Amino acid sequence: MKSSLTNSVILITGAASGIGRSLAIQAAQLGGQVIATDINEAGLAETNQLAGGGLMLHRLDVADADAIPAFASRVIPTLAGRPLILVNNAGVALNSGPFSETSAEEFDWLLSINLFGVIRMTRAFLPYMLEQSRSGGGGSHLVNLSSVFGFAGIQGQSAYCTAKFGVRGFTETLRMELMGTGVGVSCVHPGGIDTNIARAARRGASGYVTDAMHAQTTTSFKQMARTSPDEAARQIWTGVRQGDTRIVIGADGRLIDWLTRLLPKSYTRLFKRQLEKTFTP
Ligand SMILES: NC(=O)c1ccc[n+]([C@@H]2O[C@H](COP(=O)([O-])OP(=O)(O)OC[C@H]3O[C@@H](n4cnc5c(N)ncnc54)[C@H](O)[C@@H]3O)[C@@H](O)[C@H]2O)c1
Repeated sequence: MKSSLTNSVILITGAASGIGRSLAIQAAQLGGQVIATDINEAGLAETNQLAGGGLMLHRLDVADADAIPAFASRVIPTLAGRPLILVNNAGVALNSGPFSETSAEEFDWLLSINLFGVIRMTRAFLPYMLEQSRSGGGGSHLVNLSSVFGFAGIQGQSAYCTAKFGVRGFTETLRMELMGTGVGVSCVHPGGIDTNIARAARRGASGYVTDAMHAQTTTSFKQMARTSPDEAARQIWTGVRQGDTRIVIGADGRLIDWLTRLLPKSYTRLFKRQLEKTFTP
């Protein structure tokens, strides 16, 4: 299902930084009306300034189960039958070490943003998207941000991988369920994108991750994140406009996609060796 951004409303979560910010700026340039949301209001204002003004800004915490339906009931009446492109982009990282060092609270915190945030937003806006498609001619589109960590389980990332595999499972299910409805679905799997996500990562409270380890993770991420957020956003909007249901970003993204499908068991040993080389002082 191809979707045009012109004359659509584009609702983006996590639009105060990184990929979400670039998506918002480019969507406005492509002629869409953008509703940019985030918990970071100062960052949203900066996104709006970079876009030249004209974005609608809302503080929205995707981990807040009550705030989302309340937000949807305020926004939906303003959409006036226009196609809605919902981009579930907001996300966080957790640097807590292995699962055994990750508290239940830390694990749940990450899932509540990276997985349940996506599900809650979809639950709140999909009825409008289906109705718009039935009566308004279509063009609505759901875009969910998974990751290459939705292809591969990686040590030290149990909560993040659980969330991103979950986003992929949820989105591929909707891809089948929404066939023939006119609502498009895209699951996005970026490789390393040079954003704030690693710098902003929450540190685990167990003490397993030392200051030196945390600093090394941030530095290594910076070295490995080869794609800019602007380039990631360009590829996402191209994919959405072409009706691509599975958007893999970056040469690293394509390599991990290919390796995990070619070597579904032995990729674990291969990636572990590579990680140990990267993270050995
Ligand atoms: N950067 C990468 O290498 C990479 C790779 C694969 C997938 N992703 C995914 O892309 C998405 C965007 O990440 P990014 O790299 O641009 O990160 P980023 O840290 O630059 O931006 C994330 C944004 O989400 C917002 N956010 C955090 N918690 C929120 C909440 N509870 N409610 C609403 N907004 C919240 C932050 O304030 C921030 O503005 C995430 O889902 C991330 O998991 C990123």
